[in-house]
Amino acid sequence: MIKTVRKAVFPAAGLGTRFLPATKASPKEMLPIVDKPLIQYAVEEAERCNIKEFIMITGKSKRTIEDHFDYAWELEENLKSKGKQAMLEEIRRLAQHQFAYIRQGVPLGLGHAILCSKPFVKEEPFAVILSDDIIDPEDNLLEKMLNIYDKYHATILALERVPKAEIHRYGIIAGEEIKKNVFKITDMVEKPKPSSAPSDIAIIGRYILTPDIFSFLEQTQPGKGGEIQLTDALKSLLNKKPVYGYLFEGKRYDAGDKLGYLKATVEFALKNQAVKDEFREYLLSVIISKLNKES
Ligand code: UTP
Repeated sequence: MIKTVRKAVFPAAGLGTRFLPATKASPKEMLPIVDKPLIQYAVEEAERCNIKEFIMITGKSKRTIEDHFDYAWELEENLKSKGKQAMLEEIRRLAQHQFAYIRQGVPLGLGHAILCSKPFVKEEPFAVILSDDIIDPEDNLLEKMLNIYDKYHATILALERVPKAEIHRYGIIAGEEIKKNVFKITDMVEKPKPSSAPSDIAIIGRYILTPDIFSFLEQTQPGKGGEIQLTDALKSLLNKKPVYGYLFEGKRYDAGDKLGYLKATVEFALKNQAVKDEFREYLLSVIISKLNKES
């Protein structure tokens, strides 16, 4: 069995209803944070972990994702003629990877989206990256998960403690901390009420999965919201095989949600070399003028 993770799956076929009307005809995954679309941050995260094959699950109105990672010779010629070498190299680098695109005809849920990747993943472990969960690159979440995978060769989920008021939006786990920030998971529930949740530890949008997840997904019936839930398949897997979680304590932004998207934009702009100083001054001026108006 291949034990190295060489493939990453990017489910990107959701409807993005929390971001309507922006997502009516264009993909949520192409919303930019400063100057890069969400999906590019996700691809670069996998790139940094030496992942070589990128499998995108797309759907209706998602064609610009394909264009974004394709060669763009007219643009390249233009950048070359203007001597914009650095940008030219960045544009080319993205197109050099091996991308596969699979259409999820009907968005039947995250579990179903991952099942669509089966013919390309085959019998290998693989990473799943939800591009609307933006992780600060300095926190290296995926890399830490891959290190844990190297030790256990089992399913590894990214976990985060969430406020009680947000528990109903996530899959929530029960588990035992076997070493610092590493949990052996004993149970999981999709979107529970806070009163019946087994903990405040949520599953977030990074997974290392083994190919045996596919047979569990095939048997999973539609659950919450009529969708085939990955959490339900993972729960069945848990009865047969160990599942581990890594408790992430760095910064994550739910950029599929308006507030999370705005927070990510501000934080990333404050780190962007080209704009950070002027943007910081602008932010301070906005806050000062608001405070003056209120007093
Ligand atoms: P979300 O729960 O964020 O759903 O999906 P969504 O449709 O994208 O957005 P909202 O809630 O309507 O605003 C989590 C991830 O799973 C993918 C999404 O693209 C996102 O990356 N997904 C979800 C699919 O690929 N297919 C699906 O059927 C559902």
